[in-house]
Amino acid sequence: MPDAAATPGLPPEPPPEPSREPLCASADLAERGKAWVWDVQQWGRPARAFALRFDGIVVAYLNRCAHVPTEMDWQPGEFLDMDRRWILCSIHGASYEPSDGRCVGGPCGRGRLTPVRVAEEGGQVYWYPSRDIRPVPFDEPAPGSP
Ligand code: FES
Repeated sequence: MPDAAATPGLPPEPPPEPSREPLCASADLAERGKAWVWDVQQWGRPARAFALRFDGIVVAYLNRCAHVPTEMDWQPGEFLDMDRRWILCSIHGASYEPSDGRCVGGPCGRGRLTPVRVAEEGGQVYWYPSRDIRPVPFDEPAPGSP
């Protein structure tokens, strides 16, 4: 079926780039250091995500364990184990591969972390909202506010 927006004789327009949100400066994410944690909404409900640098690449996931849907950091922004090799859930010790979020040990079984798309450009880290994971609206009332 032809693209309705295509002009005859010209190649079709590429799809628009998904919009992105600034997250932090590249320098805020040291190699295997503390993660950058931020608020999002997943399916319209409050959630938190985190980004960290591992082997030079910025990766990001929802802060939600595949074992029990709870936050995993043992101190705010601290997700890596003592050897700075695995993402470690502080609740029951599930371990995840930082590069892809796959469970590699503990009670997370065949589960994996929910990825959040990120990109780094010009010294800035961006994240890409998806259909399911969105920014918190500016006019969202704080929990418990009238
Ligand atoms: S809640 Fe993460 S290992 Fe159980």
